[in-house]
Amino acid sequence: MTPQQLQIEPAPALDSFHFFPPGSRRHNGTPRLARHESPKAESPSSPRTIRIALAGCGVVGGGLVRLLHESAPAIAARFGVRFELTRVLVRDVLRDRQLPLEQRLFTNELDSFLGHDADVVIEAVGGEEPARTIACAALKRGKKLITANKELVAAHGSTLSTLALENDTGLDFGAAVGGSAPVISTLRDLVGASTPLSVRGILNGTSNFVISLLERGASLDSALASARKRGLAEADCTRDLDGRDAAAKLAIIGWIAFGIQPIDLKVRRTSLIPGLERLVRLAGILESRLRFVAECTQLGENRVAATAEPVIVDSLSSFGRTCLEENRVELDLGWGLPLSVSGPGAGGKPTAAALLSDLLRLESPPNDRGSGAAQFYSVTDPRPHRWLVAAEQDAASLQHSANAAGFGVERVVTDLVGAAVITAPATWERAQSFVAALEATRAEPCIARYERESETEVLQ
Ligand SMILES: NC(=O)c1ccc[n+]([C@@H]2O[C@H](COP(=O)([O-])OP(=O)(O)OC[C@H]3O[C@@H](n4cnc5c(N)ncnc54)[C@H](OP(=O)(O)O)[C@@H]3O)[C@@H](O)[C@H]2O)c1
Repeated sequence: MTPQQLQIEPAPALDSFHFFPPGSRRHNGTPRLARHESPKAESPSSPRTIRIALAGCGVVGGGLVRLLHESAPAIAARFGVRFELTRVLVRDVLRDRQLPLEQRLFTNELDSFLGHDADVVIEAVGGEEPARTIACAALKRGKKLITANKELVAAHGSTLSTLALENDTGLDFGAAVGGSAPVISTLRDLVGASTPLSVRGILNGTSNFVISLLERGASLDSALASARKRGLAEADCTRDLDGRDAAAKLAIIGWIAFGIQPIDLKVRRTSLIPGLERLVRLAGILESRLRFVAECTQLGENRVAATAEPVIVDSLSSFGRTCLEENRVELDLGWGLPLSVSGPGAGGKPTAAALLSDLLRLESPPNDRGSGAAQFYSVTDPRPHRWLVAAEQDAASLQHSANAAGFGVERVVTDLVGAAVITAPATWERAQSFVAALEATRAEPCIARYERESETEVLQ
């Protein structure tokens, strides 16, 4: 939030504020948080009240309740606002959540929740339903919607954004990507000046946390148990480990950075499982690190390729040094060095902090780039990459299999289970066919993109 946005005039009557009253669109068509002018000025010291209906009071929603409670004096002093929770949707209304909230605010009835009288709706339920119903109902009633739900935005972002515009209200989802790292707001701020050449990131704190613990010798089960204990992983964290979570965040990045609608982004996604422990071990043997990297890259002629896959990176690279639940996003803006945004990418407190940022943002920025901007379109990645392909075969057999599939082999390594080859650059389709051939022989292959420089490049 810029200092200009923070200028808050002496607080008027508490009931004189509304979010986005009819006719309050900005010059660019984006709705804004606006205030009815009141002839009666009120004491400059009384903060205005913004009423919140909170859907979901788990790790993120509960974290927000605590944050709002703890920061209330600072928020009132600095922003001149006071947040009041008017309704909280949960499944279990009887559970003691150890939160500074009156029991009467909780409901488990969707209809009762949708009948709230709040100014802003925060969706922290997760998944597609009832999140989509809650979001649509809020926007149709002209209420600002703030969500931490990447699945929802990746699947329905454009519909929700249109609803927000039609109803003179706003849609914010900064908490859905990057946790505490301000990825979306950074992209929005930059997009008018220049479109990134690429946006690359470690976008899933849970899988990065698990990979970091495996690097330190933990088993997959104990790494997952630690992640759950720290509130970084749900009971079922398949979406984190198979890359769907990162791919959904990438779809949102592709929308804000390149204007490609989230559902139109073709993401090549490779799961970390099965094979995760083995890939981590092989990366260690190669004195490298395994990371799950999601990227959108311009290929020229307004084409954008999107991938979300395991990548072997240099240990000393910025991604190699991104550990535990940290998220890191690098924007290549053609400035020589990338612009980086990083921070804890999972957990109640960081995500709640990102929701609070969206709450305190006076104007909801546009999500679409507008018809005047360059139009980008999504293509499948045609670029050749080096690949690390591991299989339960001895080194000579695997090298033979690679050569038979038409692959040049730059390096062969062995581990306790078998061997791995690092191939000469080849397209994903060719790498896929090699993996399929190994699968046919039950050699249990796994694959990661290999991003370290080749020995020849290092020497040059
Ligand atoms: N956890 C993180 O680190 C993190 C980080 C970034 C973004 N997010 C996103 O934030 C959102 C919430 O995640 P979370 O970790 O807070 O999830 P969570 O701990 O499972 O909390 C979900 C909350 O929603 C309520 N809920 C779920 N289904 C419901 C239904 N059908 N009707 C009524 N209430 C329902 C649950 O009620 P009960 O409490 O009664 O079960 C719970 O309070 C998700 O979209 C997630 O992707 C999470």
